[in-house]
Amino acid sequence: MTPSRSSLPGEAPLEAPAIAAEDLWFAYRPGAWILRGVSLRVPPGGFWAIMGPSGAGKTTLMRILAGLLPIPRGRVFVLGHPLHESLPPAMRRMVGYIPQQLGLVRGLTALENVLMGALARHDGWRTALGFFPRAEIERAYALLDALGLAEKAGEKVIRLSGGERQRVAIARTLMQDPQVILADEFVSDLDLPRAAQVLGRVRELARERGLTVILNLHEIQLVQEFADHVAVLKEGRIVHESAAAALSWPALRELIEAPSEPSPVPAVPSLIAVDPRA
Ligand SMILES: Nc1ncnc2c1ncn2[C@@H]1O[C@H](COP(=O)(O)OP(=O)(O)OP(=O)(O)O)[C@@H](O)[C@H]1O
Ligand SMILES: [Mg+2]
Repeated sequence: MTPSRSSLPGEAPLEAPAIAAEDLWFAYRPGAWILRGVSLRVPPGGFWAIMGPSGAGKTTLMRILAGLLPIPRGRVFVLGHPLHESLPPAMRRMVGYIPQQLGLVRGLTALENVLMGALARHDGWRTALGFFPRAEIERAYALLDALGLAEKAGEKVIRLSGGERQRVAIARTLMQDPQVILADEFVSDLDLPRAAQVLGRVRELARERGLTVILNLHEIQLVQEFADHVAVLKEGRIVHESAAAALSWPALRELIEAPSEPSPVPAVPSLIAVDPRA
């Protein structure tokens, strides 16, 4: 079943969301709910920012959307597929997840790291041994070039700056040919002008390819400039959603500093999620 509501007679059909969460609850430990009934619908091609105080559950939400954590309660659909059921392996590469720590192999070059994004599409022994088809190598190089890193293609990641590493991580994710990119604060180590530069390029590439993007971002200036929509998460609940440009810094502060409303706890805490990596 898809999460779209049927349209009324005479009304244009509602576009199926690229990502939808319905009343999503999550706990790492029994009863300690981190997400408390999160619902959102991100349309295809949306460029969304998730904001909120530290500990609000942003990374947890990202990891659930990336299929990395179980869903104890609620439903999540990615590109129309229910994540709360088992996801076909081919679907996994449709979602590119960039963790805050980027997950690059520092001892490999920028180009080799980008090529790793293609592994999901070439899982034979030849690629495992490092034999990538020439076309893939050219593509990886072109992606680095598009992100202004052609000259660093042969440089080991360990010798790259923070911003360069972030661009390598984006190139690796694009190499995967995803339809959705989930990026967890991946410009947080950069100063604002550099973060704006990286985000501007990501937005351009995302538009060219019709990708849906969700970013966890802390800086309101970046959200206003680059995102088209913003959701604010506080104590595991979405307390605000609007066009990104409509959320001002004072309004955000007010939302974050407002006393929390008690949230209804699910009557029957069904399954308890356990983070396999905790
Ligand atoms: N593996 C884990 N096991 C147990 N608790 C966890 C685990 N990961 C996160 N938490 C807890 O879940 C809550 C939400 O964490 P999360 O990382 O999702 O927050 P966040 O909004 O991303 O915060 P930040 O802005 O600091 O990155 C925090 O209280 C955190 O301590
Ligand atoms: Mg986080």
